[in-house]
Amino acid sequence: MIALVTGANKGLGRETARQLAGLGMTVLVGSRDQDRGASVAAALGSGARPVRLDVTDSASLRAAADEVAWAYGRLDVLVNNAGISVMAPAGETDGATLRQVLDVNVIGVADTIRAFLPLLQRSAAPRIVNVSSTTASLTLTAAGTDFGGDAATRLAYSTSKAALNMLTVQYANAFRRDPGLSRIRINAATPGYVATDMNGHRGTRTVEEGARIIVQLATLPADGPTGGFFNDQGTVPW
Ligand SMILES: NC(=O)c1ccc[n+]([C@@H]2O[C@H](COP(=O)([O-])OP(=O)(O)OC[C@H]3O[C@@H](n4cnc5c(N)ncnc54)[C@H](OP(=O)(O)O)[C@@H]3O)[C@@H](O)[C@H]2O)c1
Repeated sequence: MIALVTGANKGLGRETARQLAGLGMTVLVGSRDQDRGASVAAALGSGARPVRLDVTDSASLRAAADEVAWAYGRLDVLVNNAGISVMAPAGETDGATLRQVLDVNVIGVADTIRAFLPLLQRSAAPRIVNVSSTTASLTLTAAGTDFGGDAATRLAYSTSKAALNMLTVQYANAFRRDPGLSRIRINAATPGYVATDMNGHRGTRTVEEGARIIVQLATLPADGPTGGFFNDQGTVPW
């Protein structure tokens, strides 16, 4: 099995790559910095290989897809993990901030899926996992749920992840309708509040715990769910 994890040079992406490699997959360590990707791939062993990839740069996505096509001719698992968070109070969140976050967390995912769709189509069991956030849940947010961290500065981030959830459902519905794409299982995963650079390591869960649901959705059986939103306890409300 060939798996690509975007943003795999650190944090949850690196741990997801490690767990997938542990299952015997060939893991392509997506990183926008070639050297950092190469050192993570080297640490993961012979089953891993670095791929330079910036999800906001269509030329880099094309080059990465060409590289995978040339080396393997297909892709079995795509984990859209790359993401950013820009924390700012709602009243101070301007269009530029929103655009920056949406560019990586939403448009970057759509462009990555588009770039790798022809390769996923050549897989016997294609899987896409979009790494979302519990803070994307409209239901839980409207109910005033405490997700940990600073709720007052999450407007851009949570809005982007809610859009990512809709993207997931839209793709799932489109794939179901198309006989050439209906084998693809695509789901949104939330790892919980995980200690990584993104939150200054204030998260309460480990990357090992957080990556578990991502790996589970990346290795779903053929009759597994598609178009869902899950954490490691089960379904998360939209
Ligand atoms: N940590 C949490 O509590 C938590 C909770 C829910 C969801 N998530 C999600 O989990 C995913 C991973 O986050 P993390 O916590 O592991 O954060 P992280 O340690 O900051 O890692 C983010 C990764 O995304 C990469 N990235 C950022 N912009 C990119 C771009 N334009 N192209 C390619 N890669 C890019 C980063 O690369 P560079 O090193 O080059 O910047 C890095 O590898 C994100 O989608 C995040 O939203 C995290």
